Parts: sequence; C-alpha cells; structure tokens
Amino acid sequence: MTTMESLIGLVNRIQIACTALGDFGGDDDVFSSLWDALPSVAVVGGQSSGKSSVLESIVGRDFLPRGSGIVTRRPLVLQLHKTDEGQEEYAEFAHLPDRRLTDFSLVRKEIQDETDRVTGKTKQISPIPINLTAPPHTIPIHLSIYSPNVVNLTLIDLPGLTKVAIEGQPESIAQDIEAMVRSFVDKPNCIILAISPANQDIATSDAIKLSREVDPMGERTFGVLTKLDLMDKGTNALDVLEGRSYRLQQPWVGVVNRSQADINRSVDMILARQKEREYFATSPDYGHLASKMGSEYLAKLLSKHLESVIRARIPSITSLINKTIEELESELDRLGRPVAIDAGAQLYSILDLCRAFDRIFKEHLD
Ligand code: GDP
Ligand code: NA
Ligand code: MG
Repeated sequence: MTTMESLIGLVNRIQIACTALGDFGGDDDVFSSLWDALPSVAVVGGQSSGKSSVLESIVGRDFLPRGSGIVTRRPLVLQLHKTDEGQEEYAEFAHLPDRRLTDFSLVRKEIQDETDRVTGKTKQISPIPINLTAPPHTIPIHLSIYSPNVVNLTLIDLPGLTKVAIEGQPESIAQDIEAMVRSFVDKPNCIILAISPANQDIATSDAIKLSREVDPMGERTFGVLTKLDLMDKGTNALDVLEGRSYRLQQPWVGVVNRSQADINRSVDMILARQKEREYFATSPDYGHLASKMGSEYLAKLLSKHLESVIRARIPSITSLINKTIEELESELDRLGRPVAIDAGAQLYSILDLCRAFDRIFKEHLD
C-alpha cells in the first residue's frame, strides 16, 4: 500500500488533465464525461454562511480572498495533499507550474488576480453567462496545498448563492450563480458540502434548499452547521445536529469558525481549531457530540468518504479512461503521426497519463 499513490491524489491528477484540455480546441466531450465520473466535494451555501471559513479551517491556513459582495467568482478546485510531519507547507497553482508558494498571502493575491484576469474587476461572476454548465466554460482555478496539517481531499469552492443583485451586478446574477453551482451539484458523483449558519432557520438555508432539490434522499449531502457560537442565548441546534430538523444519510457536523473579530486580529488557524475543540468539549449542549463535531472531524469524515466513493467507482472510471484512450488514439490517427503541432504533443501526454491511470487504478482493485 505504501508505494501506491492515494486514490484521491490520482483523481486529482486526472481532474487537472481534464481541465487543461478544456482549453484545447478539439472535441472535449470525452474529457467532460471523465470529469463528471470523478467524485469531488462541492462547497455550497448562501453568502456569508461561512463557506470560506470552513475551507480555511479544513486547510488550517488563511488563504482565501475575502470582502463583501461576491468574492468567489470562479470555481476554485482545492486539492489537499497530506505530507509528512515537519515538512514545509506550500501551495501550487496549476496555471503556475513549478512555482511553490510558501507565503499564503501570495496565494490569496494570486486567486484574486487570476479571477480578475478572466472575469475583469467587476462583481459579475465568471464566466459571462454563456454556457455555465460544463467544463471548459466553468474554468476552475486549480490550487494544490501540500501540508502535514491536511487530509487528502479535493474541495470545490463555488460562488455563494444570493437572492438579490447589488450595485455593479447584472439583474441575472442570482440565476447565473445558481446555474453555475447547479452545474456541479447536479452531477450524481458530486458530494455536496451544504453550509448553513446556525443563527438562521434551517428551513431558509440556501444550501439545504438546493440540496433538497438535487439530492432529495440526502444520500450525497454533508450538512455543516456554522456559527453555533452566535445562536441566541438559551437556544441550541440539537434538532439540526441530531437530524430531526432535516434528515440526511450522513451525520450533520457543527463547526465554530473564527469570528470577524478573530479575523481582524489575525487569530492563527491552528489556534482557532484548538479553540473550536475546546468549545465542543466544554459545551453543555454539545458535549456529548464533541468527538463528532468541528472542522478537523469534518475533514477526516470527508476524506474517508471521498476515498470510499472513488474506490466504489473504480470500474466505471477505468472503463471511461479506456474509452478516452481509444478516442485519443483515433484522434491521433486522424491527425496522422507523428504530429508536430502542440495539440498533438498535448494529446500524446494525456494519452500517456490515461494509460498510467488505467494501470494504477487496476492495482488498487487487487
Ligand atoms: P462565506 O461568504 O460563506 O464565504 O462566509 P465567510 O466564511 O466569509 O464568513 C462570513 C462571516 O461570518 C465572517 O465575518 C466570519 O468571521 C463569520 N463567521 C463564519 N463562521 C463563523 C462561526 O462559526 N462563528 C462566528 N462567530 N463567526 C463566523
Ligand atoms: Na444559507
Ligand atoms: Mg467566501
């Protein structure tokens, strides 16, 4: 097992390859269906529900752009790779290969700059409402983080669901965002991380409303309840956390993220995780659930689930990879070998990658 690449890492590499081919002029159908077959976790919720905070807690790093309005305007595919204890943490963008960033404020700036590069500095989400339903049109930013403080996991950060347009936004903004989010969560292989704030009625949660529509049996939704610390005194969220308010097949997880005051004081993320653990351990309401609450538990739960879902899908993924190999071979035949142009070279490298994936996936079956 030790020499074997993690299944999640393997799927990560295919996703990057598929996205790279999104820009490729040829028929991208096969890459879209391969992408769709790969399980991933999409983060869904209303604006200010705590999506960025949950992501940062899971990573144990402060690195996402923040501000008012629509900050996330392009999907961000965040791939977490666990490294050995004592290794230096670093981040790498797929569009900046071989540039290791160890300063996470530069990661934040690069996400911002790369978003602006495609969407312009307006508050409109990306892309301009053409076809938001499939890659390459959703053009995600790919960010990998290597750290001893993470679990192997891939998360997709999406724009927050919103009801009304604010200044500088087209009227259609709410529908555009919903269409983009739906293009991910509609896929049966998408695991939905539905973020709802505890200081709002769960019946009005944007995340749960959408999840209920696309996953009515709650089979692929993980409910996350944020802001437990902000509930009115004398009330608690046990009805939600114990599954009585809205039933999901997976257990609900409550979290306590950094407050705005903590963010302003730059409270360290690892310290925030520790404070969160203490919150649950000492809580009169949630003490009995403490071992199944918090962002660290959530990260482990998701990683385990993602791994098992990928494992269950190995047969269908390998058959799609084989189909991809066939299509690439016939495309290369059509172009005539040897192909000197860039496109040909790209096809060859993808073909090699697919063959390698096919081989490694088969090893995982044994
Ligand atoms: P997003 O718009 O969904 O990405 O939400 P953010 O993660 O940016 O959070 C919005 C605001 O809520 C920020 O000021 C956070 O500090 C605050 N916040 C998020 N989660 C919690 C929480 O669990 N407790 C407290 N006190 N504040 C939170
Ligand atoms: Na919400
Ligand atoms: Mg956010």
